Amino acid sequence: MPEPKRQLVLGAHFPSMGQHIAAWLHPDSQIDAGQNFPYFVKLAQTAERAKFDFVFMADAVATRDGNMEALSRWPQYMAHFEPITLLSATASVTQHIGLVCTASTSYYEPFNVARLFGSLDHISGGRAGWNVVTSANASASFNFNRDEHYDIAERYERAREFVRVVLGLWDSWEDDAFLRDRAGHRYFDASKLHKLNHKGTFFSVRGPLNLARPPQGYPVIAQAGASEDGKELGAETAEIIFFSQQRIEKAREFYQDVKSRMAKFGRAPQQLKMLAGLNPTVGTTTSEAQAKFDYLQSLIHPDVGKELLSVDLGGADLSHLSIEEPIPDHLIPEKTRASMSRLKTVGSVAQQEKLSIRELYERYAGSRGSYSVVGTPAHIADQMEEWLTTEAADGFIIQASYLPGGFDDFVNLVVPELQRRRLFRTNYSGHSLRQHLGLQRPESRYIS
Ligand SMILES: Cc1cc2nc3c(=O)[nH]c(=O)nc-3n(C[C@H](O)[C@H](O)[C@H](O)COP(=O)(O)O)c2cc1C
Repeated sequence: MPEPKRQLVLGAHFPSMGQHIAAWLHPDSQIDAGQNFPYFVKLAQTAERAKFDFVFMADAVATRDGNMEALSRWPQYMAHFEPITLLSATASVTQHIGLVCTASTSYYEPFNVARLFGSLDHISGGRAGWNVVTSANASASFNFNRDEHYDIAERYERAREFVRVVLGLWDSWEDDAFLRDRAGHRYFDASKLHKLNHKGTFFSVRGPLNLARPPQGYPVIAQAGASEDGKELGAETAEIIFFSQQRIEKAREFYQDVKSRMAKFGRAPQQLKMLAGLNPTVGTTTSEAQAKFDYLQSLIHPDVGKELLSVDLGGADLSHLSIEEPIPDHLIPEKTRASMSRLKTVGSVAQQEKLSIRELYERYAGSRGSYSVVGTPAHIADQMEEWLTTEAADGFIIQASYLPGGFDDFVNLVVPELQRRRLFRTNYSGHSLRQHLGLQRPESRYIS
């Protein structure tokens, strides 16, 4: 028997029409994607046929504000299903694939989140995952009784306490608390019911949750922060981390950095799967793949390109600048309440490489900061194998430039190549998302 090989974890991220800012202009993308349930089901079923670990739906609890002239040419988050509702419906038309989505710790209450993801875990038979985000989009504050977004440190402090409360609520009932014993005239064993009685800085939550312990014990915790605070929260609580790095050396550094922080929280590196964002453009030949890539790049509207950079650069106003010139240094702020890590990455590339605005937005238009690969299935599989075997990632979250075609290409051409190399499963061996990922089911804290 050949040695069992370490295999990739694969998630599929479905940002409505695709990851590229011009995806909706591609004639084969689904123009009403954000509000088309049958379309989403088809994507999820395609991912399940390909034996992906999970599908992932990102979320924001606001439209994007900014330059409406530009935003009217860029639909992201403007018409977007609430993802827990979407995944609950998807659970009933899929059998194996994990269902992961975002809920914001800045604008939800822990009791709601525990109940929603606990319910999704029951509905799906143990396939739920919660992506813990603190929300980089400052506009969300205006929808939740605030005039201003929390600053980054406060957001992450709140997130840490939030996760602790949610985990506590999932332990409200021991696994065997519900007896449902008609003959004995007893529905539950009250000694196996636990009130959390949490009183902290941000939350006061008595509990218990009005829901039996989730099938996975806890739904899987995902996280995607990349700032110092984000990495600390990920090392302490996350079982999946999504991260964006464009170069393998940087990815290795990030991977090492986060995994090495885990020990101080009493965690082993295998308890966390770090998944790099991968934006693949696949062709049967290199030139075919390149032509697909160039086509989408040619569809970028300059106002949208500038808006993309403006968001990453903490709202810098670039509207009056020529796209053939670099961004003057003084327009790049030092701080933002949005994403510090995006500001640092894009800001330093702008300042050091002195790219023109057009070159800069072209770099991020499709990948949005993730690793972008253009080429044949063998070439893309080579890169994925190198990232896995040299500990730059435990797997990837696939972010196709346009949907469904870009994802179909990956599934039809790259997945079989990964399977041939024994880098990816050919069948599901477990039922729950934890089993797909090789993660233990956590015991209740009340079991000694
Ligand atoms: C694959 C991936 C998915 C993400 N999904 C979301 C999301 O659904 N909602 C959100 O507000 N931010 C999302 N983010 C952004 C992160 O939560 C985070 O804000 C960002 O990586 C910056 O990290 P920082 O906030 O620690 O600076 C995502 C990031 C990545 C790489």
